[in-house]
Amino acid sequence: MAIRLVALLLVCLALSASAQTDPVELLLAQMTLEEKAGQLTQLGTVDTVTGPVIDQGSLTHPPMQTVGSVLGIYGAERTRQLQQSVVEGSRLHIPLLFAFDVIHGFRTLFPVPLAEAAAWDPDLSQRTAHAAAMEASASGLHWTFAPMLDITRDPRWGRVVEGAGEDPFLGSALAVARVRGTHGDGPPNTSFMLSTAKHFVAYGAAEGGRDYNSADLSQRTLQEVYLPPFQAAVEAGADAVMPGFEELAGVPMHSNAPLLKGLLRGQWRFTGIIVSDWMGVHELIPHGVAASPADATRKALNAGVEIDMVSQSYSRNLPDLVRNGQVSLTTVDEAVRHILRAKQRLGLFENPYRYSDPARERAQTLTPQTRALAREAAQKSIVLLKNSGALLPLPKDLHTLLVVGSLATDAQATLGAWALAGNANDSVTILEGIQRTVSPATQVTYIPGASPTSLDTQGIAAAQQAAQKADVVVAVLGETADMSGEAASRADLGLPGAQDALVQTLLETGKPVVIILMNGRPLSLSNSAQQATAILESWFLGSEMGQGVADVLFGDVNPSGKLPITFARSVGQVPIYYGYRNSGRPATGQNPYESTYLDLPSTPAYAFGFGLSYTTFAYSAPQLSTERLASTQSLNVRVTVTNTGQRAGDEIVQLYLRDDVASVARPVRRLRGFRKVHLAPGEARIVEFTLGPEDFALLDDDLLPVVEAGTFTLFVGGSSTTDNQATFEVTDSRRLHALGPAIPRQLRR
Ligand code: GLC
Repeated sequence: MAIRLVALLLVCLALSASAQTDPVELLLAQMTLEEKAGQLTQLGTVDTVTGPVIDQGSLTHPPMQTVGSVLGIYGAERTRQLQQSVVEGSRLHIPLLFAFDVIHGFRTLFPVPLAEAAAWDPDLSQRTAHAAAMEASASGLHWTFAPMLDITRDPRWGRVVEGAGEDPFLGSALAVARVRGTHGDGPPNTSFMLSTAKHFVAYGAAEGGRDYNSADLSQRTLQEVYLPPFQAAVEAGADAVMPGFEELAGVPMHSNAPLLKGLLRGQWRFTGIIVSDWMGVHELIPHGVAASPADATRKALNAGVEIDMVSQSYSRNLPDLVRNGQVSLTTVDEAVRHILRAKQRLGLFENPYRYSDPARERAQTLTPQTRALAREAAQKSIVLLKNSGALLPLPKDLHTLLVVGSLATDAQATLGAWALAGNANDSVTILEGIQRTVSPATQVTYIPGASPTSLDTQGIAAAQQAAQKADVVVAVLGETADMSGEAASRADLGLPGAQDALVQTLLETGKPVVIILMNGRPLSLSNSAQQATAILESWFLGSEMGQGVADVLFGDVNPSGKLPITFARSVGQVPIYYGYRNSGRPATGQNPYESTYLDLPSTPAYAFGFGLSYTTFAYSAPQLSTERLASTQSLNVRVTVTNTGQRAGDEIVQLYLRDDVASVARPVRRLRGFRKVHLAPGEARIVEFTLGPEDFALLDDDLLPVVEAGTFTLFVGGSSTTDNQATFEVTDSRRLHALGPAIPRQLRR
């Protein structure tokens, strides 16, 4: 007993000693309530009706000297100046954090996340995230509000462009890659940035696909579809989590204590920062769960939201709420501790200006290396959807090539949503890319013809006349950059403006027509547009879009992208996704009483995981290490992939799994592995996967994790519709304490 007392005494002494030397604890002990409230306040620079504007300085926001972080200020010189005024002008000299949305690049823009997800390439995504962090941190930024991890099955929702599509396994893999890329080699490197997993959680399940709208889904779907990428990001060391704007089943995420404190802090042991979204604290009032800014402050803080982004609710109300006992000082101190620890990890207490280095900024921005990476990412994100008669790749020495569509010269569109610090002048348009790539003898004619933003059809006649003289017509069609992203939901998924009329007229000329889609969401092309000879999905590919598209269009690169999200035939099919449950009357076409439509097939226009190549690939039947295994064992799967065409190409080999019979209805397929292989003509390669208990596990009807005995069918192929399958049996059932690690096996370290 005495020994235990001595040990306890020693521990207490050690803790109190560390508190005396730990700069964070030392600071915390000195801070006033107002200074603590300041650290939990983030100001923004966007001049908006709802948020403060630092630049004007005329607002009654808290003295800058107590604010903990700012959003939207960057530049080595500008951050140094503001940092100096805060550090030297404040009582405790606590440096600011500079935060920004570095979603898919900073000055060099990479493909929008949905596009890059089509590359199915965690290594690529890690490299682009790291390149973005290198550029952004060189401009004085410490913290990015990325990666955005919202799964969605509704392409009407504008923010589909910012995520990784519909699948939690692919989404989890890219979540890990982007967190790791943002961290780089970690502190004390000044290329290390704080990452943010957002928007926690199910923001992409907005009813009607309308941004900010209510989400209401089952606990099962929440746990099986929307949560895994966030769990993977936390396992990978994400530094912050941002709640979504939405209310989930009646509980706004900004006051959702069960998910923020119960799951995120309690079960997942997340120790980072929870930062509100823009005005998210204040919006608890319109959500109808808070009667005043003070009430909103109390609810958000007590639910676990630590930083108040731009609403100033915390700076104005927190001190009184603590004094009147509605918010505990422990809660406040824990929140402030998280922010101070982040500043400590960034090395800002030793040197507040270490990220604000003009020489590094000049050396590390828009370099040949970042441009080359942007071009590589653009090439790998393109999906070939159709190629009748192997029209593509086009020869570089065509006599006359007609390019139509206003998007072909729209440099801003190449950057996509959330391009922020990007400059369209730095970008290569599709027309420029084509002009640079074809032979000098090729006559390239450009006619706008039609635009996504106008119903004017007057330009179509000129396009029709020019088409008569062309060997091939390239129609660049789709959406402008601001037709997707935040507050950019569409009720229709068709080609906006007069673009469909344009493509119909072009097709009537009988000339070969190549459609190049520029879009931030799956589009539902009309039947006539689908008659085009070839269709390339090129999304918004960033600063090197035009070159990347030309590289594929003229065959310098063989397209390898696969769709990360289902393309519906019509918006009337939404939600439509590959991992559906079968229903009791699946659509087989055998009888009228089945789950289908009178006016459309129930299948999509293009399936998840689909993408063509300029070559062809053949798959052997999957070979299994065993056909029977215990619930504790792993299964090895091998398949031989052969390039059966005439040119080298990359194939994204996908493995899907179905639990044939279980205690609950299971998805008809779930992605559980993927590999990209490069094969020369005629080359064959064995591709291996390992499946384990976390792949066989499910949540039973009590939502408890379990592996159940029974047969499973696995599918391995180049799309979610592959029928290349094999069956195996798990011989026993076993309860699990959890579904298993969220980081996909292929990315675990
Ligand atoms: C926006 C977005 C969020 C972003 C934040 C700061 O409203 O919802 O993703 O990080 O505000 O710009």
